[in-house]
Amino acid sequence: MLICDFYISYDEWAETKYYPYEGYDFLLGRDGCLYFLEANAVPAGIYVLSVITRMQYNDLPPYEKHLANDLVKFVDRFAEMALIYYYYERGESPQTAIVTVPPHREGFLNPERIAISYALRRKGIRSWVVGKSKLIYENGFVYFLDPKNHEEIYPDLIIRRSFDFPKKVKQIVINPSEVGYITGSKIRTYKVISKLLDSLPELAKYVKIPFTLYSRSLNKVTRYVEEILEMGKRVIVKPASGSGGEGIIVINSKEELESKKGLLEKSARNKKYLMVQELILPAPVLIKGNRYYAFDIRAYGFMGRLVGLHLRRAPIPIDTNYLDLDYYNVVSNVSAGGVPIIALMDRRSKRDLRFIRTKKYTLRMADKVFRTDDYVTIVGGELLRRIEYIVRVFSKAISSATSL
Ligand SMILES: Nc1ncnc2c1ncn2[C@@H]1O[C@H](COP(=O)(O)OP(=O)(O)O)[C@@H](O)[C@H]1O
Ligand SMILES: [Mg+2]
Repeated sequence: MLICDFYISYDEWAETKYYPYEGYDFLLGRDGCLYFLEANAVPAGIYVLSVITRMQYNDLPPYEKHLANDLVKFVDRFAEMALIYYYYERGESPQTAIVTVPPHREGFLNPERIAISYALRRKGIRSWVVGKSKLIYENGFVYFLDPKNHEEIYPDLIIRRSFDFPKKVKQIVINPSEVGYITGSKIRTYKVISKLLDSLPELAKYVKIPFTLYSRSLNKVTRYVEEILEMGKRVIVKPASGSGGEGIIVINSKEELESKKGLLEKSARNKKYLMVQELILPAPVLIKGNRYYAFDIRAYGFMGRLVGLHLRRAPIPIDTNYLDLDYYNVVSNVSAGGVPIIALMDRRSKRDLRFIRTKKYTLRMADKVFRTDDYVTIVGGELLRRIEYIVRVFSKAISSATSL
């Protein structure tokens, strides 16, 4: 049975079985190195990305249009890939599927869950979007009561878009909850990845983990901040199990450490691990007008294949001397005001990054308005090859650490 044209081998499936749908965040440092920030268990963004690509599509020259085709159909591709994954496990297609939703439904992410469900329906699968509170877990199976005809539905396939999901579920779950053990803690993720980098010295030359210390005690955190400042670096403090850029504190200097002690105290109060990390100064490449912005790179993988990229820039520009960086100069999560920028993959281009001018667009979602910049980026050359390779090996490493 031919499900789609996206061919993934059995081995690739087997090696990434516990982390099939990957979302990695990287920074491109001033030194040209990629810095790994985190792996996400439930990477969101594919719907917004496909809509923004559609908006900017008509501004693109023909060759770049061709590069954008996959991104326009990102949600459908996701559905296809989920079916391939299912097929390798079960040898057939699923009849029923659900996409799960967290209790508070985070407004602008909800259309994505609906879009995934519709994409599955277009493939002939009965599919629902189901709130987490409606799901029942019994004897290893997840089911829910379809309110329309009072039918108990045991979905064959579960697209997990919520956290705190049961483990050891007998149905097929993408991504299985088990991977959260690794990805839910940046400390554990770093352990897995630094072990991998130790075993691959070639790779370690161009992807690094930012120098990081961690502790639950305010005293130690303060000492670690001083330690990194003394190394001549700026510091970023973030919760080890954070997401969406929440709770991040930027510290440029000793004076600032004094003035931000209150913030640190507040963060340390709940006794969760805090990461004290060197601040990576971003490569000054994103020029808008004549301004520089810090940006990060999100790479989406499926079964270890790089399938999509986007950049996110921080809302407030930085000057070239990187003076006085603060939260909004540095943190580029979309939920913290960052601006998503589509990044088309060009395997034939020799250049790492290039820009194509487009118009600006506005995308209105329930609780959020996205304004695009007036360009898209094209990633190619060595940078693209590196990211492809990183996604492949990281995915295998995280999957195999999960299966242990
Ligand atoms: N060490 C760092 N140096 C510079 N910027 C950083 C650093 N760590 C995080 N950031 C910025 O903050 C954002 C959020 O950090 P991340 O580690 O991905 O945590 P979260 O789980 O909150 O998304 C990143 O996308 C990046 O823009
Ligand atoms: Mg992140």
